[in-house]
Amino acid sequence: MKIGIISDLHIDVNSNEQVSISDFEKIVGNEILKQKIDLLLIAGDVSNDHVLSHQFIENVKQLTNRTILFVPGNHDYWMKGQEDKDSNKVLDYFKVQEESIIEKPYIINNEWAVVGHSGWYDYTFAAKRFSIDQLSKRTYNGRVWQDKLNTDWKMDDPALSKKFASAVQADLEKVKDKKIILMTHMVTYKNFGVKMPHPMFDYFNAFIGSSDYDQLLEKYPIKYSIMGHVHYRKREKQNGITYICACVGNRNEWHTVDVTTEVKQALQIINI
Ligand SMILES: [Fe+2]
Repeated sequence: MKIGIISDLHIDVNSNEQVSISDFEKIVGNEILKQKIDLLLIAGDVSNDHVLSHQFIENVKQLTNRTILFVPGNHDYWMKGQEDKDSNKVLDYFKVQEESIIEKPYIINNEWAVVGHSGWYDYTFAAKRFSIDQLSKRTYNGRVWQDKLNTDWKMDDPALSKKFASAVQADLEKVKDKKIILMTHMVTYKNFGVKMPHPMFDYFNAFIGSSDYDQLLEKYPIKYSIMGHVHYRKREKQNGITYICACVGNRNEWHTVDVTTEVKQALQIINI
């Protein structure tokens, strides 16, 4: 079975007069069909709007007739400009969808299962010189981490990370007799944080990943840990686990101006 992995498509900010959102759907759909992918995993950040993100997934599914599994990224939770920004409501919106694997692991076959969640950041990826107090301001040198303005989880970030990681642990328990593909949006692997020292990311790495997964990666038969968020395209194996980051990322980070090329380069494959 051929599994495709992609993340951080950001279809709204990456679309323009030449490439519409429906072009994005066709480009991703064509790539799935061309590469004969059986199952597509999308590790979050489809767009800045949950309805648009869901619609995109539905449309790609229609175009390809393939199974798509999804976990929302921080951007998919954004409620820009809305008065009531209860992110828990957006989580509830995503949870009931067929493609969501939050609190419902997907059994591929007798041997393999996919477990997933958005995950959240717990500040442990930041340089040690910053205090929790400084980090919880989510503001540094005049720059504000945008989740502060566009989400509201009614709890602090490290607590949210713990809450999501324990939901993941409950799901891992359900399928621990199988080989597991873990899909999160947030980074589970410190090597995929932005390389320090860095003038901004010594601080902003706080909002990239979480150490709450370390013990889960050790304890459960996780063979792949796939993620998005940091807009890398990387694959690294350590202690028998392959870590994959398959981000399309934002247009201004691309080496080309061509969406098809970028989607093709970002898409990673695993064969099981
Ligand atoms: Fe992103």
